[in-house]
Amino acid sequence: MEENIYGKYEEYLPYIMEGIVKTFNSYNDECYKKTGDKIYEHLTSRIKSHESMREKCVRKGLPVNEKSALYDLKDAIGIRIVCAFIDDIYKIVDYIEQSKDINIVEKKDYIKHAKPNGYRSYHMILEIVSEFEDVLGNFPGHYFVELQIRTIAMDSWASLEHQLKYKKNIKNQDLIVAELKRCADEMTSCDVSMQTIRDLIRDGD
Ligand code: GTP
Ligand code: MG
Repeated sequence: MEENIYGKYEEYLPYIMEGIVKTFNSYNDECYKKTGDKIYEHLTSRIKSHESMREKCVRKGLPVNEKSALYDLKDAIGIRIVCAFIDDIYKIVDYIEQSKDINIVEKKDYIKHAKPNGYRSYHMILEIVSEFEDVLGNFPGHYFVELQIRTIAMDSWASLEHQLKYKKNIKNQDLIVAELKRCADEMTSCDVSMQTIRDLIRDGD
C-alpha cells in the first residue's frame, strides 16, 4: 500500500489546484474575448504522487514527512501552461505579478537563460492563501504551486529530453545529447521567427 506523505492535507490539494487552474482559465477566456486570441493553448495540472514526493525528499536529504512535502519542497501541486508564442509567456508572467491573490516565491527564466542541455521554460513558485489549514498550522493556510510556462516547441523538446533521463544503458548517449542541444537551438530560432511573423500579421491589422 502507498504511504500517504501528505497526511490529512492530501484531500485539500485537489481543491487548491482547481482554484488556481480556474484563475488561469478565466484569464485565458478574458484574453480571448478581448483580442480574439487565447493567451495559452493548453494547461495541465498534477499532484505529485506519494512515491515521487518520497523519492524527492530522500534525494534532497529531507525527512520523509508532511512538512517536507508541503513546505520545504514546493512542487506538490504542479501546473504547466503551454503557449503558441514567446510573448504570451511574458504576458502571463505580468498577469501573475499583478495578481493580488498570488504571491511569487521564486522565478527562474530558463528562456533568457537556457540550461546547458538546451532546456527552456519560465518557472515560478507561487504561494496562495487557501481556505484550508496548512502543514505549519496556519489558518487560512499557505500552499505552494510550481508553474512552468513554455511554448509548444519547448514543451515537445522537454518531453523528448525527459525520456533520456529514464532510459538506462542508452547507446549513443553523447550523440543524443548533442542532437538534442542542436534541436533546442533550432526550436529557439523557430519560436523567434513565429513571434516575428505574428507581430507582422498583427501590424497589418
Ligand atoms: P527539482 O529538484 O526538480 O525541483 O529542481 P529545481 O528545484 O532546481 O527546479 P527546476 O526549476 O530546475 O526544475 C523543476 C522541474 O522543471 C523539473 O522537475 C522538470 O519538470 C523541469 N525541468 C527542469 N530542467 C529540465 C530539463 O533539463 N529537462 C526537462 N525535460 N525538464 C526539466
Ligand atoms: Mg523545484
